[in-house]
Formats: sequence, structure tokens, C-alpha cells
Amino acid sequence: MKLEKSSRFSACPGPVVTIVLDGVGISPREDGDAVKTARTPTLDKLMASYPMIALRAHGTAVGMPSDEDMGNSEVGHNAFGAGRVFAQGAKLVAESIASGHLWQGHAWHEVVATAKQGGTLHFLGLFSDGNVHSHIDHLKAMIERAKQEGVAKVRLHILLDGRDVGETSALDYVDPFEAYLDGLRGADFDVAIASGGGRMQITMDRYEADWSMVKRGWDIHVRGLGRQFASAHEAIATFRNEANVIDQDLPGFVIAKDGKPLGTIVDGDAVVFFNFRGDRAIEISRAFTEESFSPFERGPLPKVTYAGMMQYDGDTKLPPRFLVEPPTIDRTLGEYLAKNGISQYAISETQKFGHVTYFWNGNRSGKFDEALETYVEIPSDVVPFEQRPWMKCAEITDTLIAAVRSGKYQYLRVNYANGDMVGHTGNFEAAVTAMQGLDLQLARLIPVILEMNGTAIITADHGNADEMYELDKKGNVVRNAEGRTKAKTSHTLNPVPFVLVSGENPGYRLRGDIAAPGLSNSAATILNLLGFEAPDDYDPSLIEAV
Ligand code: 3PG
Ligand code: CO
Repeated sequence: MKLEKSSRFSACPGPVVTIVLDGVGISPREDGDAVKTARTPTLDKLMASYPMIALRAHGTAVGMPSDEDMGNSEVGHNAFGAGRVFAQGAKLVAESIASGHLWQGHAWHEVVATAKQGGTLHFLGLFSDGNVHSHIDHLKAMIERAKQEGVAKVRLHILLDGRDVGETSALDYVDPFEAYLDGLRGADFDVAIASGGGRMQITMDRYEADWSMVKRGWDIHVRGLGRQFASAHEAIATFRNEANVIDQDLPGFVIAKDGKPLGTIVDGDAVVFFNFRGDRAIEISRAFTEESFSPFERGPLPKVTYAGMMQYDGDTKLPPRFLVEPPTIDRTLGEYLAKNGISQYAISETQKFGHVTYFWNGNRSGKFDEALETYVEIPSDVVPFEQRPWMKCAEITDTLIAAVRSGKYQYLRVNYANGDMVGHTGNFEAAVTAMQGLDLQLARLIPVILEMNGTAIITADHGNADEMYELDKKGNVVRNAEGRTKAKTSHTLNPVPFVLVSGENPGYRLRGDIAAPGLSNSAATILNLLGFEAPDDYDPSLIEAV
């Protein structure tokens, strides 16, 4: 993995720093754009005075099945780190189902065999067509196949989304799905929703930010402990009536008949966690598979056949049983730099820490070279982020500035979570504040990088805060009869900025000849800035020497 020294580019005399403004895209309209609305004098000035291009950050440019799919942090950071586009979970699962490959694997056979020995087959996962963590079509295909293979009893544990899809769209999924289940149910096929709740309330925590979420999910799905309702529809309608909560924050619920939960998870059952993306699947998978487990009081561990849609962590082999092989992302930027003696530094707060390490390194936990790499996690607040939209951007910047000044690192990367995590709340004012907080930090950080003769790349993994209102199919803002807008919590399809900030006469300029440049073009660019030629199969660099 030796990199060739470039004869065209001389290495930047100071550190090269990638600054990922998570969820900050470039929207073509003004309405509902928290990025444009915010007063961000520093970002505006940098964008106006340094070379900048817009990069594609969604759809096929990041390995999603189609250009209708928005980008997300997993695929975005994979593309940044890999310098190439790999077919991602969403695509691999859809293909595995379409080709029938999924049904031929050991994992599916074991799941079905367990259920046919008298166990219940449980499907647990994010219940929407967001295609970021899961897709409802994958769930349907598995239920139908289970029926066809003679499984008698299926129970569903549904995590309501409202974060990758419309913020109050839960019933648009639940109601047609109940009708669909009615059509499948029969004398020898018993299928029903058994439990559920909002994805930010139960089960889908990530990076160990808040294990209590997973505990709440465990109690609801496995032990059937929670408020009881006759149906998921009733639960959602009741919660909405009682308090003004959006789907992702709906409390957990248990579906019961005569006081008895419809589907607790017990010895001899099979459980499929049908999310394909790893970050929010790891903690619940650990709870189901680790014999000795301390993050929360789990009660007796039921002996179940547990399968993930994918393996969520290839290093720890979690979970050991999985339905579809994850993408194998090899020869990442991080690995090349480590093998060529370049010191690296990565920093973010908890909510995005795995993004700039694990996802950036091709879904690999740990470092390539302990001596050359430093990874820093600043603990995130455990509060709804609209309450503290500045999040930890100031603390991250304090620590990062010290790292830049130390002169110890040649390549640094940071993820600021604000545009994304606050964007996901759907709160426009908070997203504007988030952007303003972020801009203050850029005003502190950029001069230090320049003072150290470095280069800053300001970019993003996908859009989010750039569209805070729902749009119709034509791209116009949706307004109700009173003219009010509807909050949009999900990512956008917009491109993201790529701004190259360096001192005078840096010896390069942006190339104008790259067709449809995307996030994956960034890695080769970074290698050039560090004075190397990029590997031949990396997507082309965005700069040329002058
Ligand atoms: C989440 O997990 O919070 C969203 O589904 C996706 O957000 P991310 O891709 O920006 O992490
Ligand atoms: Co996001």
C-alpha cells in the first residue's frame, strides 16, 4: 500500500483538515433553508472567496439504489473515506431479495428452522421506507417468504420513524400495513404487530449515547412491559392526542389482548433485526447476543436464534448470524495514510464520533496504527437537540485547535453534528441557531489552520438543515389552509459544498472537467494536498496543479 509521491503536487506545508458540517447542503430555494437564513458571515466569506464546488451526496453517487434516495451519514462518510463508491446496504439487501440469495443463506435457514420447531418469528426494526436504516419492502418480503416456507407465527416490533420520512407519517405506514397483514393472515398463519415506539425513544440509540433507550426497547419488545393498547393505530392516535409528539419521539407501547401481550420474546423464538445500517443496530444486537452483559438490567436472556439483516460490526463479528453480507470497503484513505507514515487525527462528539472513525474507515472499528492516529470523542448532551442547538461545537473546536496548533498531525478530520442533529428535530429556529453557533467556531478554527500554513476543506456528508419544510413533488413548500408550513425532519437530496481554504498561491486549482463530482472525489483530493498521487482506482481528484 505504498503511495507514490506526486511530482505535480507538493505537500501542503501545514496540516490538511477536513471539516464535515454534517447535514449542511446547498438548497436551490430560500424558503425553509436554515443554512441561508442563519447569519453566517464566516462561512459566507469563505464560500465567496475560496475555490468551491458543489458535490453530489445522494443516490447512486454514494452507492444507494437510485437517485431518488437521499444521502445519509453512513454512506457519505464511507464515500469520503473510501475514495470510491461501493454498493451500500440498501442496495445489497434489495438485490439479495430480488435474486433470492437471501433465502439460500444459513442465517435465513436457521431462523426459519427455529420458527418451524414451534418458536415465534419476530421481526424488529425501523418501520418506514426511508432506506437509511431499513426499508419496509424488505420486511414484507421476509414475512411473505416465512409464510411460504411454513412458519406459523410471526410477530412484528415496529420502530416508528418520522426522521428519515415525514415527521408525522406513522399511520401512513401502519394503516395500510394492517390491511396487508389481514390479507396474509389465515388458519395456519398468525401474524400481528406486537410492540413499537418512536425510534428516538426506544431501541435505536447509537454510539452508547444513551443506553436507557435500549433498555426501554428491550422491556417493550422482549418482556412486554409497557403501556398496553389494542393496536398500533390506537397507541399512536392516543399518544398524539395526549401530547404533541412527533413520530420519532412516540413512547413505547405493547399490543395486548385481555391484558396479555401479543408477542413477548421467549426461549425457542427467532428474532430478525431488519435494519441494514449498523450504528443504531449495535446496542440492541449486543443485548440479544452477549451472554454477560452489563449496560442495563436485562433480566433473563431468552435463548433465541438472533439474526441481523447485516453484520453490523465486522471486527467484533456482531451479530454472528446475519442475512446479507455487508459491503467490503478496503484500502481506505485512513489506511493508506497510516501505512505511509502520515499522522492522523479525528474528532467529533458522541452522536457522530463513529461517523468520522468507523464509517470513515470503511466500517472498521479501531485504528490502523495506534502510534500515528488519535481519535477524540467529546461526550454529547443527552437532551433533545432543539434545546441546545450549539451542541458541543465549541468544545470540539477548543480541542481541535489545540491539535492543529500542536503540529503533530498532518491530516485531521472533524464532524460537527449541528446541521444534521438539529435539522432532524424539524425545529427551524433551532436549526438557524445551530448554524450560527457553527459559524462562530469556523471563525475561530480557520485562522488557526491558515496560521499553521494548512489547508481546510469545508464540506458536508449530505443535506438536512438546508430544507426544514416539507416540499411537494414539484419542489414547492407545502402549506396548509392557514399558510403554515410542515416541518421536515429528514435529509435532503441537495448537493453539499466543497470549499478549499488555503494560503496564497497554493499550487493547485479546482478542475472543471470532472463529470458529476461527488463525495468520493474528496479522498484523492486530500492525497494530492498531502503531496501524493492517489491510487489508480480512486475516483479522480478535484484539483490540478498550477
Ligand atoms: C439517524 O440515524 O439519525 C438518521 O436516520 C440518519 O442520520 P445520519 O445519517 O445523519 O446519521
Ligand atoms: Co442525519
